[in-house]
Amino acid sequence: MLLHNLVFLLLLWKNDLTVADPQTNLLDIGCSTYNATNTSLFLSNLNTTFSRLRSKLSSAAGGDLSATSELPQSAAPVYGLFFCRSYLSLSDCLACLAAAVSSTRRCGFGTGGRVIFDGCTLRYESAPFFDQGTLPGNTAVCGNGSSALEGFAAAATALTMDLSLAVPKIDEYSGTAVGDGVFGAAQCADTLSEDVCAQCLQVAYKNIQGCLPAGNGRAVDAGCFMRYSNLTFFSANQTMDLSRYLGGSGESSKNTRAIVAGVVGGVVGLLILSFLAFLWIRKSRRREDEWKGNLLGATELRGPVSFHYTDLKSATKNFSQENKLGEGGFGEVYKGILKNGNIVAVKRLAITQSETTKASFQSEVKLISNVHHRNLVRLLGCCGNRDNLLLVYEYMANGSLDKFLFGEKNELLSWKQRFDIIVGMAKGISYLHQEFHVCIIHRDIKPSNILLDDNFQPKIADFGLVRLLPGDQSHLSTKFAGTLGYTAPEYAIHGQLTEKVDTYSFGVVVLEIISGRRNSNPKLEHIKQYLLEWVWKLYEQDDLVELIDKSMNPDDSELDEIKRVMKIALLCTQSMVATRPTMSEVVVLLLSRGDPISEPARPIFIESSTRANGETSSSAWSSSATRATVSVTQFSGR
Ligand SMILES: *[C@@H]1O[C@H](CO)[C@@H](O)[C@H](O)[C@H]1NC(C)=O
Ligand SMILES: *[C@@H]1O[C@H](CO)[C@@H](O)[C@H](O)[C@H]1NC(C)=O
Ligand SMILES: *[C@@H]1O[C@H](CO)[C@@H](O)[C@H](O)[C@H]1NC(C)=O
Ligand SMILES: *[C@@H]1O[C@H](CO)[C@@H](O)[C@H](O)[C@H]1NC(C)=O
Ligand SMILES: *[C@@H]1O[C@H](CO)[C@@H](O)[C@H](O)[C@H]1NC(C)=O
Ligand SMILES: *[C@@H]1O[C@H](CO)[C@@H](O)[C@H](O)[C@H]1NC(C)=O
Repeated sequence: MLLHNLVFLLLLWKNDLTVADPQTNLLDIGCSTYNATNTSLFLSNLNTTFSRLRSKLSSAAGGDLSATSELPQSAAPVYGLFFCRSYLSLSDCLACLAAAVSSTRRCGFGTGGRVIFDGCTLRYESAPFFDQGTLPGNTAVCGNGSSALEGFAAAATALTMDLSLAVPKIDEYSGTAVGDGVFGAAQCADTLSEDVCAQCLQVAYKNIQGCLPAGNGRAVDAGCFMRYSNLTFFSANQTMDLSRYLGGSGESSKNTRAIVAGVVGGVVGLLILSFLAFLWIRKSRRREDEWKGNLLGATELRGPVSFHYTDLKSATKNFSQENKLGEGGFGEVYKGILKNGNIVAVKRLAITQSETTKASFQSEVKLISNVHHRNLVRLLGCCGNRDNLLLVYEYMANGSLDKFLFGEKNELLSWKQRFDIIVGMAKGISYLHQEFHVCIIHRDIKPSNILLDDNFQPKIADFGLVRLLPGDQSHLSTKFAGTLGYTAPEYAIHGQLTEKVDTYSFGVVVLEIISGRRNSNPKLEHIKQYLLEWVWKLYEQDDLVELIDKSMNPDDSELDEIKRVMKIALLCTQSMVATRPTMSEVVVLLLSRGDPISEPARPIFIESSTRANGETSSSAWSSSATRATVSVTQFSGR
């Protein structure tokens, strides 16, 4: 058998890699699903990043085939990292970079991307990530068919194990080695610490075992790479002797390995058994592993605080009715008093625990917990175990806006307070759209999602959560369809999603705040049943005052301001998406008192209803909107 292997090896070596080969076999590509807010600036920074990486590589001394680039100060920061396998030539490495750069076009305006080829790894993000080794999304890419060679699996296991142990101790974090008919290589990004590199390669080692007995396999991860094959993929003179990194002197370690090999040869049956056991364990562990999110998309952010399930359970008195604050689109919310006395709101997500949910939960939560704005509810932490996804938020004593608007609370809001709420909401949404480093579209702005703090300042809740829904098909989803009356028609009907979807909902909420009535109330006479249609009618008759909540008792100057704000709300609810202002424009409009405001365009439903002799209900928008709503209602059972 040994002789056979030897001959076989020699045959392989004969076919040496003298031809240039940048090894651009694509193993893994991923893109952040968050778009940059300033796309032109972002793309230009990305361009700069790529050319910096290119020039650093070209000019590197001593054959260093890795480079980083940072543009932290920009409004669209970009951090880039690139590393080639050490057995590539510089020209192959540059060719690999070029191929990777062109693959990133798939990522469009996404704020992050990674491309892993056999020959090189490229990653960029909008925040620093250079110290990251293993990340959720790590996986193995296995070849087809199994190696006919006896003992191949055992040899590959031994070789990849050696590589995972030795490479963190090698200066350049890169190793190649040859075993019994198997060739292997492993590498870490040289920006990692030794511990992080070792941990990353341990995960890679475990992943790659899943490929055996395939003739070749790779393990891909954010900060490291591993590969084995029954064919060589580097030249003979690049093979390293790993023994001096594996503890003890080279000689004794060689002896040990000889013994190990002997034992291995003797107990192949045992190995197969343990391999099967390993597979079984791996399978049962899967749930835990796949719990992690995608490699990309905000993985670079600081993580949220993890709470223990038992602590939250006791804080909320075992999720008792007494502690229940309400029920939102994503689950029930409970008041919780932590052991340290702090009061929090605990949301128990009623999201089906699909694999996708689990995968996105952690990265979404990480993203949301990094959003800090005075008009957005802070996410303090989370708790995720097999059966429960819990989010812990700051507690808002005054509850939600709908309680004040629609009569459940006795306290009435003055115009001043209402105006502050409107401006605060606009600022919060504008931050989500344009100032946070990724664009978050809320998609479910409504009074029950606007919480009020002790000073009646608004804080928007539930942002980011919609992305936890499977496949992000929220407009088709059974659980979520925005909320009747607040959802922009183009989104409700066609699923066409832009930031202007939030502008529309914001406009509807503003009209509710001013009128003190719900956007739809079947109990009212026909003409007043749908708030938006009624407002447009009043607007055309120049009779907006009719709409204003009488309990506010506004004076004349306030009345002018209220009418101005109503007009802004009408601009926001226009059916032409492009004519609605962005939320940052809304903030400016609200705050620049006295400036004239352009005339809002009449929405389609007014026109069609006019044609239908004032029969408001037979309008184009409302009929299709009703249709969309009916199907949604059937699904959600609302
Ligand atoms: C994007 O950034 C560029 C360069 O800084 C700037 O000129 C432009 O106004 C920005 N665009 C937006 C929409 O902020
Ligand atoms: C990036 O740079 C290349 C030249 O290196 C240029 O052709 C391309 O237009 C640039 N793209 C952007 C978005 O600036
Ligand atoms: C991001 O930009 C792409 C265009 O590159 C667009 O197709 C996609 O809808 C955008 N996604 C979001 C969430 O805005
Ligand atoms: C492996 O087999 C699958 C299905 O049989 C095929 O789609 C894939 O292209 C093969 N991969 C390689 C590397 O040959
Ligand atoms: C290498 O492994 C593949 C299966 O992945 C097998 O088809 C091929 O024959 C093997 N080659 C050699 C030289 O052993
Ligand atoms: C390794 O071998 C290749 C040819 O296969 C040769 O071009 C190269 O110079 C050699 N490198 C070293 C360090 O000897």
